[in-house]
Amino acid sequence: MDGSLTMKGAADAPFYLAQGDECDVFAAAARNGLPVLLKGPTGCGKTRFVAHMAAQLGRPLYTVACHDDLSAADLIGRYLLKGGETVWVDGPLTRAVREGAICYLDEVVEARKDVTVVLHPLTDDRRILPIDRTGEEIEAHPDFLLVASYNPGYQNILKTLKPSTRQRFIALEFDFPRAAHEIPVVARESGLSEDRVAPLVRLAGKLRGLKGQDLEEGVSTRLVVYAATLIRQGMPVERAVQTAMIEPLTDDPDVKSGLRDLVTAVFG
Ligand SMILES: Nc1ncnc2c1ncn2[C@@H]1O[C@H](COP(=O)(O)OP(=O)(O)OP(=O)(O)O)[C@@H](O)[C@H]1O
Ligand SMILES: [Mg+2]
Repeated sequence: MDGSLTMKGAADAPFYLAQGDECDVFAAAARNGLPVLLKGPTGCGKTRFVAHMAAQLGRPLYTVACHDDLSAADLIGRYLLKGGETVWVDGPLTRAVREGAICYLDEVVEARKDVTVVLHPLTDDRRILPIDRTGEEIEAHPDFLLVASYNPGYQNILKTLKPSTRQRFIALEFDFPRAAHEIPVVARESGLSEDRVAPLVRLAGKLRGLKGQDLEEGVSTRLVVYAATLIRQGMPVERAVQTAMIEPLTDDPDVKSGLRDLVTAVFG
């Protein structure tokens, strides 16, 4: 499986508005080769943060979306038949270990157990990647950094990391930006003016208050950006909010009608 490669100079780093000291913590971890775990709800900026930091630090970024079919070979590499010859092809993790890149394992709790086992010798002071198939044992490049993320909210209890895996990472908790940050973020991402974004962010705050009662997850910053983008394209506010901030959250007709009442309360 191929990881996507993004290499950019700091000047064109993807936009990320810091919520606190997360950029400093990440930079310190990166300088010292300490693995980083990002925890937080869907659409709150984890992926954007990693892309931003990789560009700031001038390190290539290999992103792997983890799923329950992802095998250790998908990360490490495999022998492939090329023009009648069998050749070894590095996976994204091996490439990152050799080159000194950031390997970002998105939704790491979805990965199979054999994947997490591979990470262990890489994420303690040994920093080595043994490749059984070739007999090679690679010492990680000093700039190699392992980053993983997951959403602790909706995963069932079985889908958490083992303590022996978790305790190999420093961890940063992410949440939706507070309003004073979310308004400029959404305005910048969508091109809609801040005064028109403000009520959308107010609505988002109210919807997030329903998490755990009527809603499994609060509305993501990503969806607020979608709503603002539709409005900027000329869609009536009510329709944009319905399609981007209500329908994606629930299928339950009663809950939806409750959410529409919140919309009326915010927009009149
Ligand atoms: N602090 C921020 N600075 C800039 N953009 C942000 C910030 N927070 C959120 N965003 C916006 O929110 C969108 C969603 O963020 P992102 O894709 O990084 O979420 P995520 O936490 O990785 O979600 P998931 O867990 O679903 O993968 C981004 O595309 C960006 O537009
Ligand atoms: Mg993400």
